[in-house]
Amino acid sequence: MSSTVNLLDHPLIQHKLTLLRKKDTSTTGFRRLAREISLLMAYEVTSGLPLETIRIETPLEEMDAPQLAGKKLCFVSILRAGNGLLDGMLEMVPAARVGHIGLYRDPHTLTPVEYYIKLPDDIGERMVIVVDPMLATGHSAAAAVARLKQAGATQIRFACLIAAPEGIHLFHEEHPDVPIYVCAIDRQLDDHGYIRPGLGDAGDRLYGTK
Ligand code: URA
Repeated sequence: MSSTVNLLDHPLIQHKLTLLRKKDTSTTGFRRLAREISLLMAYEVTSGLPLETIRIETPLEEMDAPQLAGKKLCFVSILRAGNGLLDGMLEMVPAARVGHIGLYRDPHTLTPVEYYIKLPDDIGERMVIVVDPMLATGHSAAAAVARLKQAGATQIRFACLIAAPEGIHLFHEEHPDVPIYVCAIDRQLDDHGYIRPGLGDAGDRLYGTK
């Protein structure tokens, strides 16, 4: 099975992403735009969720109406920049559970090392949507998804703002079963692991740390 890449090309998403990329966008503006884009992404990334029919009463009569079936979603944020996409997603799906995974890159081996993880116990029964704004080398995303599979997750989707072709390729290779939802695929990675043209360091821009 080869994983699918879903390009979220809705005009509102594309317009807001352009504003987000601009170097003059303030920390306040960046945070607000990331939240707004994630609201729109939540709509796309939840497409095709199973529905069930329940009997309800409108003020006028009874009817069979659809509701989401089974346990609600679990969003998993890859720290720290993933948190910038969480608020909007949670606004759209308030009953969702939330997990966090913290990874840093070992300076010698350049491989991701886990320093924090907290997931709901019943993650295996939920659709899991992993959020991280930038799919750069793909190493952190692939490691996070491997860890989620180890914890029992079977239905996983990955959502990001911008991806590098290199990151998509690596992620594809390691997780062909996990669809990617991305707002833009940029030209390339540079020698420092930044996506070009990109938007800079998503964590620093969200939290004003540089
Ligand atoms: N992480 C970021 O925040 N930005 C990049 O361009 C790549 C990884």
